[in-house]
Amino acid sequence: MANDYLALANGYAQELMDMRRTLHMYPEAMHHEVETNRRIREFLDQHGIAHLSPAENITVAVLPGDHGGKVAGIRCDTDALEVVEQSDVPFRSTRPGMMHACGHDGHTAMGLFAARMLHERRAGRAGTVKLIFQPAEEGGKGALKVIDTGAADDVQAFFALHVWPTLPTGQLLVSPGPVCASTDRFTVKITGAGGHGAYPERSADALAAAAALVTQLQHVVSRFVPAMEPCVVSVCSFHAGNRWNVIAGEAGLEGTVRTFSNDIRDQVLARMEEVAHHVAQAHRCTAELTLFSICGPIINDEAMATLAAESAREVFGQSSVHPQAPSMIGDDFAEFSAIAPGAYAFLGIASPDGMLGQRPLHHQQFSLDENALPLGAAWLAATSDRFAGSGA
Ligand code: NI
Repeated sequence: MANDYLALANGYAQELMDMRRTLHMYPEAMHHEVETNRRIREFLDQHGIAHLSPAENITVAVLPGDHGGKVAGIRCDTDALEVVEQSDVPFRSTRPGMMHACGHDGHTAMGLFAARMLHERRAGRAGTVKLIFQPAEEGGKGALKVIDTGAADDVQAFFALHVWPTLPTGQLLVSPGPVCASTDRFTVKITGAGGHGAYPERSADALAAAAALVTQLQHVVSRFVPAMEPCVVSVCSFHAGNRWNVIAGEAGLEGTVRTFSNDIRDQVLARMEEVAHHVAQAHRCTAELTLFSICGPIINDEAMATLAAESAREVFGQSSVHPQAPSMIGDDFAEFSAIAPGAYAFLGIASPDGMLGQRPLHHQQFSLDENALPLGAAWLAATSDRFAGSGA
């Protein structure tokens, strides 16, 4: 029963908080989550929980019940970000320039205690839960790396949560349909011809071309995408020139495209290519646009989102579970939910006093209300148990 999991999780509140704080102190960049995985395995071993280690930075805890049932997967991401932490807490990052600024320390801690509870409740429980500790969620295709190992091949439904700033602690958002946007990264290299700042007519100014392109890219969404289709094109980086009297012969832009429909995505990318080419040409420069697909959109499955909401109402209370508004953030949980039905939820982490959970994800002062951790752990355990036991 879901309420049992909450009572159990509340009993572990202090240990859960300690685990999150330890993880917070030792953040690791994506693809390098080795120490984190060592910690994960140590915890699992301590509690007698079987696990697979298909790579140095991937751990999958395997939690069978004692009869039949299905295989549920829970995804927890483990990587941190290149952010200089500016929080004044005793457990702040000990690694200069690295920070758990996206709450993955919380996700990992909640996952570990969900595993512990599912293990303790294995008698009488049907089916198997696999707890997947995934590396490189922040644009590093970590989900595909896990899928490539085959460790998730038998999973019939996937579940995950993400901590959600400004949403009050004690609330959870989950509903069917689009939840997170597809995410592409693009770069544009503009090549002109450098020269003396006094004689622009004898050069091809790549900086001027790039500046014009930044402006023109703003029109791609506003003029070429139907108003009812959510889509974002953001230029987030601009590099050109290095001296006050030398015209820049090269310029570089970098940014991201977010949307929920593959059709719109393809149209937008084609339009950007066209705009880049023509704007560069108008400045006697050339442009080369390169795309890197990070992940597709997360579309929550109807049946799995319904099941996830049912267990959430048992854990959080009837009036504390609400539908999600689709978010333009991306999460490569999308890769898991593309191979089996899935549900991805947002967990409230804002404390009632307004002190914690107010900063956005990736902020150098990102914080979370640790009272949310037992709730999240209980929901992960209850939801995966419910699915694994369904039809048993
Ligand atoms: Ni994140």
